Amino acid sequence: MQFTTLALTALASAQAVFAASGSQEFVTLAIASGSGLQYTSFTAKGDDLYFGSGSDALAANVTDCGFLQFTDGSYAYIEADGSFKKGSRQSAMPGFVIKDGSLKYNNHSFYGVKDGEHYKISSVAGSEDSIGVLVRALSPEGGVNSVPDYTPDGKDCWAVGPPVSFSKRDVASVSSGNGAAQLGSQASLGVGAAAAVAAMLL
Ligand SMILES: *[C@@H]1O[C@H](CO)[C@@H](O)[C@H](O)[C@H]1NC(C)=O
Ligand SMILES: *[C@@H]1O[C@H](CO)[C@@H](O)[C@H](O)[C@H]1NC(C)=O
Repeated sequence: MQFTTLALTALASAQAVFAASGSQEFVTLAIASGSGLQYTSFTAKGDDLYFGSGSDALAANVTDCGFLQFTDGSYAYIEADGSFKKGSRQSAMPGFVIKDGSLKYNNHSFYGVKDGEHYKISSVAGSEDSIGVLVRALSPEGGVNSVPDYTPDGKDCWAVGPPVSFSKRDVASVSSGNGAAQLGSQASLGVGAAAAVAAMLL
């Protein structure tokens, strides 16, 4: 019983700690000289993501799981055709970093793929109408300053699950010490809670 209280306290404080990690918030600025996409930003029409006018720009951050999260709380994910959409935490896909002042997905820049009047944001060059775009991650305060580079440190984030992340190393080092017997005997604790306790015991 005492241990359960400890576990819940540990989980709550671990979430508080990890909620604070992630990149700074930024707005996007497309660099695609000589094209209509120059100086556009990430915008949304419904759940579809397009390059659009700066006044509709979505602000976002990269979480420590490598998700791109927008300020409305939604997350970026990729459709089978390579285009980006936004949706719930369950659909979120990792792989985003901020490198050299630019947002990257799996180490790549982005493509604008023509879709009627607009250009969808895509991870692949879909057609001859697509344009390669470097996406700068700028401070929302305005000006041309990029936010600091950020590489997510969550190594084993759940694809679906609690918004907390712990590496296998944390759990493994507890298993070799005193915590193992306690954790083992608390079968009713979810994996996330057990990992949280493991991290707090270190
Ligand atoms: C990232 O953005 C989301 C949505 O605005 C916010 O809830 C979260 O606290 C932000 N994370 C960081 C580290 O700023
Ligand atoms: C990302 O790209 C850089 C430079 O192109 C390269 O040195 C690095 O190994 C790449 N990283 C990954 C994870 O592919």
